[in-house]
Amino acid sequence: MATERLKTFKIYRWNPDTPEQKPELKEYKVDLNKTGPMVLDALIKIKNEQDSTLTFRRSCREGICGSCAMNINGRNTLACLCRIETDTAKDEKIYPLPHMYVVRDLVPDLTQFYKQYKSIEPYLQRESVPEDGKENLQSIADRKKLDGMYECILCACCSTACPSYWWNQQEYLGPAVLMQAYRWMADSRDQATLKRREKLENSMSLYRCHTIMNCTRTCPKHLNPGLAIARIKKEMSFA
Ligand code: SF4
Ligand code: SF4
Ligand code: FES
Repeated sequence: MATERLKTFKIYRWNPDTPEQKPELKEYKVDLNKTGPMVLDALIKIKNEQDSTLTFRRSCREGICGSCAMNINGRNTLACLCRIETDTAKDEKIYPLPHMYVVRDLVPDLTQFYKQYKSIEPYLQRESVPEDGKENLQSIADRKKLDGMYECILCACCSTACPSYWWNQQEYLGPAVLMQAYRWMADSRDQATLKRREKLENSMSLYRCHTIMNCTRTCPKHLNPGLAIARIKKEMSFA
């Protein structure tokens, strides 16, 4: 029988039902021979076998739904795409996404994030109907302009890694939402570009981005929200 490879997971715990108790890092040991390779595999194993009260979000377990976003060893990422570091001498430290209110344990409150997403009206807006009355066609070249943006799964890893978002979350939209704002500004079929630009023309919604690029560095889908923001700024300055 293979010798045990016990790995220590230190996981942030906080229960809203006992608010007098401070948040703590709770330790769990998992045999790496008996778990899948990803951090989400270990979390599910801990919940199933050691502590059913451990709370976290997950759904697809393949980097599509965005719900397992959390801070693992200091980096915002998706638990289902993050490999467990196999060196058993090193602990795995897991926290919820930083600078967000916590619902419980690893579950952040994303209410404000979704409100901001709703505020950019993330859907096609047109005055005119297509000539054939059916489809709004787009050239292959115009469709290509949306690459690198439509793939965003709204996991919030980037926004919650952004210092500007930490300090001005009520007014600054943050990289994830701004990239989606640009995704519609860059869509040749959309006719609301002017309105979309006007909404960002104030000191807080967009211009709190100081091009620190934490957002792009952390995106688990290898997208570049920092670049999308730079493009909005450029287009607005030439508009
Ligand atoms: S840009 Fe990347 S990190 Fe940000 S919400 Fe989209 S997928 Fe997540
Ligand atoms: S580039 Fe802008 S949005 Fe991205 S982390 Fe920096 S300040 Fe935040
Ligand atoms: S479980 Fe869906 S992205 Fe991780």
